[in-house]
Amino acid sequence: MTDKDREKWDSKYLKNLGGDDPSLILKDFFFLASPGKALDIACGNGRNSLFLAQKGFHVDAVDISTVALNHLAGRNQRITAICQDMDTWNIPKNRYEIVVNVRFLDRRLFPMIQDGLKPGGVLIFESFTGGKNQDYCLKKNELLHAFLSFHIVYYEEKNAPHSDKFDQTICLVAIKKTQA
Ligand SMILES: C[S@@+](CC[C@H](N)C(=O)[O-])C[C@H]1O[C@@H](n2cnc3c(N)ncnc32)[C@H](O)[C@@H]1O
Repeated sequence: MTDKDREKWDSKYLKNLGGDDPSLILKDFFFLASPGKALDIACGNGRNSLFLAQKGFHVDAVDISTVALNHLAGRNQRITAICQDMDTWNIPKNRYEIVVNVRFLDRRLFPMIQDGLKPGGVLIFESFTGGKNQDYCLKKNELLHAFLSFHIVYYEEKNAPHSDKFDQTICLVAIKKTQA
């Protein structure tokens, strides 16, 4: 993450913060997680953090954009807004009942997500494939393979007709096994 990237996201959010509707996959599967702590990776305007906080979770909401986090701060006391660069921030180990990673990709985080979840913890992941920049795009089946040690509850690669940048949306819901 460069200062330019941060400025790009800040100016995007200054123009349009986006709506509060949570991701569909989160709405459909959050119930699999026990009550407790949640991590929302690259939370943006916090739509998914707000949803989880309303469901009773205590949410660590991390993003690089101060504009987005200033908007989120104070909206729900169960949310801790953390302004950090996910390229360098380390996920605390064995801490979360649920980790949400929606429309963001940093492969460095894959092992940390695994360690950050408590046994039985739930991963909700949504990202894209088929774009020009491979750094921001999953390969087919890549996400599935990255979390094969988990119990896979749901996996889908589907067309993303709403996006002009990407061909497909990839969704994964997986539970960290309680025993190896
Ligand atoms: C497409 S938005 C998705 C936001 C949110 N997850 C959602 O689904 O509404 C991508 C987010 O990633 C954040 N971001 C990009 N690079 C980041 C980094 N290195 N560390 C933390 N956040 C980052 C941006 O500020 C932006 O809010």
